[in-house]
Amino acid sequence: MKLIVAGSTGFVGTEIIRQALSHPEVTSLIALGRREISVPENVGPNADTTKLKSVICDDFENYPQSAKQELAGADACIWTIAVTPAQLRAMGWEQACKICRDYAIKGIETITQLPRGDGEKKPFRWVYISGSSSVRDPAEKPWVLGDYCVMRGDVESKVLTYAKESKGTVEVCVAKPGMIDAPGKGGLLMNLVKTVGRTLIGLPKVDVGEISAALLDQVVNGFEKDTLQNEDLVRIGQEIIQGKAK
Ligand SMILES: NC(=O)c1ccc[n+]([C@@H]2O[C@H](COP(=O)([O-])OP(=O)(O)OC[C@H]3O[C@@H](n4cnc5c(N)ncnc54)[C@H](OP(=O)(O)O)[C@@H]3O)[C@@H](O)[C@H]2O)c1
Repeated sequence: MKLIVAGSTGFVGTEIIRQALSHPEVTSLIALGRREISVPENVGPNADTTKLKSVICDDFENYPQSAKQELAGADACIWTIAVTPAQLRAMGWEQACKICRDYAIKGIETITQLPRGDGEKKPFRWVYISGSSSVRDPAEKPWVLGDYCVMRGDVESKVLTYAKESKGTVEVCVAKPGMIDAPGKGGLLMNLVKTVGRTLIGLPKVDVGEISAALLDQVVNGFEKDTLQNEDLVRIGQEIIQGKAK
C-alpha cells in the first residue's frame, strides 16, 4: 500500500510515520507537508526507511504538478493538518478556517482524483482526524470553543458526504480523539493541570501510540465504521499494540 500522511511534521503525523515505517503492508510512505521531514527518532528494528519520501507542498489550495506526481498512485491518506485550539490565538479566524476546512476539502478532492493505476480497483481510504468535541449539528454548539467545534464538525460532514457521493471510489473515516497524550509529554505540573481540566470538562484521552496504531490498522485492513470515537481508537490501538507485544 502507498500511504500518504498529510501533516507529517506534526505530533500525530510523526508517530504515524514512525509506526508505518515498520508496517509490512505499507510499501510506500509519502510524508506530505510544507516542510521537509527526516526519519523520526526511535524507529523500530524492522523499520524500512527507504520507503519514506518527503513531499513538500507550498500551496495546499492549489497543488503544484510536482506534488501531484508524487501523490499519484496512493491507496490511502491520513489527514492530520489542522490548527489545534492552543494555536488558535496566534492567528485570525479566517486563517484557521482556511487551514482546518479549506485545505482538508481541497486535499480530499485533489488527492483522491489523481491516477491510481491498479489501485483504482479498490476504494481510496481517507482518514480525517477531527476531535471528540467537534459537532456536525450547529445547534449542538458547545460553550467552550463553540465556533471551532462547529467548523471542525462541518469538515467531518463534508468529507463524509464526499465519500457518499463518490460512487464507491472513496471511503472516509473520521477519527474523533479527545486529548492526545504521549509518555513524557509536558512537565509534572502541566500534566496535573491538564488532567484536572480534562476531567472537569469530561474530555477523554488517547495515547499518540494508540491512535497511530489504530488508524494504520484501519487504512490497511478497512474501516470498522465511518466514525471512530476516542474509545474506539483506544480499543483498536491497544489490541494492535498488545498483539505485537505477544
Ligand atoms: N494534539 C491533540 O491533543 C489533539 C486532540 C484532538 C484532536 N487533534 C487533532 O489531531 C490532528 C493532528 O493534531 P497534532 O496534535 O498532530 O497537531 P500539530 O502537531 O499541530 O500538527 C499539525 C500539522 O498541520 C500542519 N499545518 C499547520 N498549519 C499549516 C499550514 N498553514 N500549512 C500547512 N500545514 C500546516 C503542521 O505543519 P507545520 O509543522 O509545518 O506547522 C503539522 O504538520 C488535528 O486535526 C488535531 O485537531 C489533536
